[in-house]
Amino acid sequence: MEFSVKSGTPEKQRTACLVLGIYESRRLTSAAEQFDTACGGYLSTLLRRGDLEGKPGQSLLLFNIPNASCERVLLIGCGREREIDDRRFHKIAAHVATTLNETGAADATIYLTDLAVRGRDLNWKIRQMVEAVETAQYRFDQLKSKKDPARRPLRKIILSVPGRRELPSAEQAINEGVAIAAGSALAKDLGNLPANICTPTYLAEQALALAQAFRTLRVKILEEADMEQLGMGALLSVTRGSAQPAKLIRLDYRQGPAPAKPYVLVGKGVTFDTGGISLKPGEGMDEMKFDMCGAASVLGTLRACAELQLPLNVTGLIPTVENMPGGRASRPGDIVTSLSGQTIEILNTDAEGRLILCDALTYAERDEPAAVIDIATLTGACIIALGRHPHGLFSNHSPLANALLAAGQAAYDRAWELPLWDDYQEGLDSNFADIANISGSRDGGAIMGACFLSRFTKKFHWAHLDIAGTAWKTGKAKGATGRPVPLLTQYLLDRAAETKEKS
Ligand code: BES
Ligand code: MN
Ligand code: ZN
Repeated sequence: MEFSVKSGTPEKQRTACLVLGIYESRRLTSAAEQFDTACGGYLSTLLRRGDLEGKPGQSLLLFNIPNASCERVLLIGCGREREIDDRRFHKIAAHVATTLNETGAADATIYLTDLAVRGRDLNWKIRQMVEAVETAQYRFDQLKSKKDPARRPLRKIILSVPGRRELPSAEQAINEGVAIAAGSALAKDLGNLPANICTPTYLAEQALALAQAFRTLRVKILEEADMEQLGMGALLSVTRGSAQPAKLIRLDYRQGPAPAKPYVLVGKGVTFDTGGISLKPGEGMDEMKFDMCGAASVLGTLRACAELQLPLNVTGLIPTVENMPGGRASRPGDIVTSLSGQTIEILNTDAEGRLILCDALTYAERDEPAAVIDIATLTGACIIALGRHPHGLFSNHSPLANALLAAGQAAYDRAWELPLWDDYQEGLDSNFADIANISGSRDGGAIMGACFLSRFTKKFHWAHLDIAGTAWKTGKAKGATGRPVPLLTQYLLDRAAETKEKS
């Protein structure tokens, strides 16, 4: 999709589809009012007749409007003027995007950036609109022999801004929206691919391909022999039952000042999670192909970073394995030695994410990171605790937690913090090793997973995002969401803005 910004009056726009907002009840937005005056009160007459109330979710497509330069007008219900918050605007943007897709218009000019959203500026609205359009355009049909929608004419979106002065920053907002959408789409594609295609080797190839496309990215793949040599006994224990070789993918983006410490993103890359010997029940097991969505979000975020040329140092670390049962697989009760030297009793082979992450987190120490953020579909318990709207957030450093919460708010990709108190730690005591990989009870499962990881992150500022409930949608609209690429990219955008202020 091609995006641009433009200042000018709505009635003069030569466009295939002009998009105007209508407030509840039957009130014109300022752009709609301007248009209405120029076309002799056509819209106000229509509203008076009761054809559109202006409720959120409503829309009306109009043709042949007198004195208008556009081919069509799409009226969009925006709800009550004073009630437009982040969520409402997000819904409006998504509604516009899907409705436009269903028209025959090849381009559209959208006048919705004049809606007043509490606490949000023009650029926020532009970025949301760009992301909404890209989200509506996303299809995953590469594995269908018949691609579903044969004809999708929409090619170009023009977003209105109040004046010429706003053009440069609005263009930057477009760039950010496009980069985040492309990063999310990459994460979605990788998530949606089945585990017989998207193997650890495939993920490594995708990282290499990304580095081909963006010269600012460097990739290094650690093979099982390398990990053996380093002493990653926890990570390697998970891959034992699989015919697929494990990989540790390392991506380096170095566009910040040389001495600046890197932000390290660690993504769980379990390309399929059967549970191993602690086998999962069969129902819904297909969704365990999404158990590499943390990894996918790291690739997506690095893509966005490279596209936006952020002046930062960022490293992506992706431990990737397949968790299978088999003659060589770990048994419950097995004890392995992690890279940190701590021994781990594997009481449940289905708590495998923490086993691969702990070695990747210890490995991150070598980079003397500014902060380490791991992203993982870690626990079903996180879905029980929070549902499927926010990511679960844990951190050993409250400024980092707050920065991530704020980034999530700004990007409309929200997280919610859960406690990581020492009180929980004794649940991981083992009779036979330094630590057990699960606690003896089902209480606070998401917290226990985070507690396990916290044993390996004492040397740096660290946060953990449990994305079990947010990385994909279940049910009829099953598919990867691309989250938390928007949150992570926003976090890095904020860090880049910070460095700019300092210099
Ligand atoms: N990948 C799963 C977590 C998961 C389950 C995410 C369902 C999304 C939906 C993870 O590896 C896992 O199996 N966790 C166990 C941990 C338990 C054994 C302590 C779980 O959540 O049941
Ligand atoms: Mn598991
Ligand atoms: Zn898993």
